[in-house]
Amino acid sequence: MRLLAIETSCDETSAAVVSGDSRAPRLESLVILSQDIHAVFGGVVPEIASREHLTAIVPVTRQALAEARIAARDVDAIAVTHAPGLVGALLVGVSYAKALGAALGKPVIGVHHMEGHLFATALEHADATPPFTALLVSGGHTLLLDVAAWGEYRLLGQTRDDAAGEAFDKVAKLLGLPYPGGKHIERVARDGDPTRFRFPRPMLNRGQQEGDADYYDVSFSGLKTAVLHAVRASDDIERDRAHIARGFQDALVETLVAKTHRAARAHGRAKIVLGGGVACNGALVAAMRAAGPGGEVFAPSVRLATDNAAMIGAAGLFRMEAGAHNDPALNAFSGRPIPGLVDATVSVR
Ligand code: KG4
Ligand code: ZN
Repeated sequence: MRLLAIETSCDETSAAVVSGDSRAPRLESLVILSQDIHAVFGGVVPEIASREHLTAIVPVTRQALAEARIAARDVDAIAVTHAPGLVGALLVGVSYAKALGAALGKPVIGVHHMEGHLFATALEHADATPPFTALLVSGGHTLLLDVAAWGEYRLLGQTRDDAAGEAFDKVAKLLGLPYPGGKHIERVARDGDPTRFRFPRPMLNRGQQEGDADYYDVSFSGLKTAVLHAVRASDDIERDRAHIARGFQDALVETLVAKTHRAARAHGRAKIVLGGGVACNGALVAAMRAAGPGGEVFAPSVRLATDNAAMIGAAGLFRMEAGAHNDPALNAFSGRPIPGLVDATVSVR
């Protein structure tokens, strides 16, 4: 099986060729064009994102095919992100994939963006396969999942307000750092003194027990407000920036690590798989590993952690195996649950 995969859900235009099967997906090529223009506005402007995708989609796809040394007619199917994301941005990828599929007589299948993030690590680590506990932390989502098998996802916890990446981006803005701010916070925090600012660990306390509504959920808006107060109270932000960044990152990381290990313990999982842009954060990955015991931690490389079409291709291989077929009515949706997702109250097995 050889798939052409396309991703246009937010501000990356990406195409990839993947081959093999979902147990051993192989990356043949990957092209990612990041729309840097949004940095000027301090956030993604949906209208601009759509127009940039429109300009980039054809050359990006051609480049991915060229790097894989194949022609479009040689792929078996086309996988495209169809939810969730910015609808106008998604529509560019979906429309292009459908047109290409119709012209070539190839099936086109829709892939859920977050299922893609779940598969990203499997492209680099042969053992990053279910069963595992997954923490997906991106700009739009924070999901703690128990993954019994590919396609069997139990939602344990999520954010009550801001996504983890969103919290990084908003705090970066408060500290006068560029957008997207996650990597800048990480860089600046390296020089920060962890004892200077101690912020609250949101929704994390020892008295919590499994079954409590907040046992696995997270919330970052209070933490963001605490940072805002610290910034306002500072009489020298140049001096305090690194310390505040460090205090914020430590609070967020400690919360995510504690909740993820709770989930792995409760479900007897020996593996933890990270995904999404915030999984680029070295402090998060290191803390997740240090928090043992047990539980091997798998994290994707930076290229595969942030939005890319390779992960959509890997998830697409699985969806093809699971019986997905060409859907001429395929559409784009801003929000949609991951297929196979059940609530924590429902037993998957
Ligand atoms: O998964 P992603 O590329 O896009 C979405 O699907 O949202 O995630 C983007 C998010 C942004 O919020 C960005 O600030 C964050 O990932 N991010 C990081 C780091 N690199 C990217 N957050 C913390 N530390 C990083 N090194
Ligand atoms: Zn993403």
